[in-house]
Amino acid sequence: MGVYVVTGAASGMGRQAADKLRAAGHTVIAVDVKEGDVVADLSTESGRSQAAAAVLAAAEGRLDGAVMAAGIGPTPSAEGLRRIVEVNYGGVVDLLQALRPALASSGNAKVVVIGSNSTTTTPTVPRRTVRALLDGDLAKAARSLRLLGPVAPALGYAASKIAVSRWARRTAVTPQWAGEGIRLNVLAPGAIMTPLLEQQLASPREAKAVNAFPVPVGGFGDAGQLADWMLFMLSDSADFLCGSVIFVDGGSDAYFRAADWPASVPLRRLPGYLWRFARFGRSRR
Ligand code: NAI
Repeated sequence: MGVYVVTGAASGMGRQAADKLRAAGHTVIAVDVKEGDVVADLSTESGRSQAAAAVLAAAEGRLDGAVMAAGIGPTPSAEGLRRIVEVNYGGVVDLLQALRPALASSGNAKVVVIGSNSTTTTPTVPRRTVRALLDGDLAKAARSLRLLGPVAPALGYAASKIAVSRWARRTAVTPQWAGEGIRLNVLAPGAIMTPLLEQQLASPREAKAVNAFPVPVGGFGDAGQLADWMLFMLSDSADFLCGSVIFVDGGSDAYFRAADWPASVPLRRLPGYLWRFARFGRSRR
């Protein structure tokens, strides 16, 4: 049986994942701002350091996996844009970087980052916000959203999820992660019935947008089913899954983006592609 850290374990999908892991006999270190084994605010650097130290102590330096589900939705609130990017990006990246040695210790760890299908279905997400996040400048990322008016939370949310998904894909394939036996992947849900979605549905304006959003299979996703996907991605069956983004969204991503990907490497990317090809071949020899 393994030891797993689950952030956002007090509610919604994180709670379901933690319950299912415990029911399967694993030990869960639950992290959340509300309640859990580690109560920490992942919206600040000090909260993230405190969380990482407490998790490492509880895990005694060895983790079999992680579910990074703590997140803030796109609902406008007093919490502000800064908090969205701090929790959704910093709360994943900083914590995982601090936990990496403990994940490597197990030799076969699995990490599931909860992304979102807002990454591919939200129009005009500012590239500068995504860039600032990937550069580690979270204050700049939040500032870049300020003038976007009422759509800023939705764009900030999508930007945070694009950035964290790209970070996961870039990081997953490196020697420090893939090479150390850690499998890092992203689960990208559509609208799942959790307190986060309920909060959106409580606002008539947001409810209208959520209900009008195309979902080919209809309705909303179930948090327990999403947790089953997470458990699968944490299992030995996922040994060959690395840097993937798995959409479980009732078909919305396919509805909007069927022609966009999978796609071949475009001509302008060929030099970078060939360089990586050659570099990987050399490192294998
Ligand atoms: P939820 O609101 O039920 O759970 C989120 C948890 O994160 C809560 O327990 C909350 O206390 C915790 N959290 C929030 N801020 C925190 C902070 N500063 N420090 C520590 N913990 C904090 O939401 P849900 O729906 O279960 O969301 C889980 C993940 O799934 C989030 O990353 C969310 O962005 C993502 N997601 C949710 C979708 C949905 O429709 N519910 C759709 C796509 C992605």
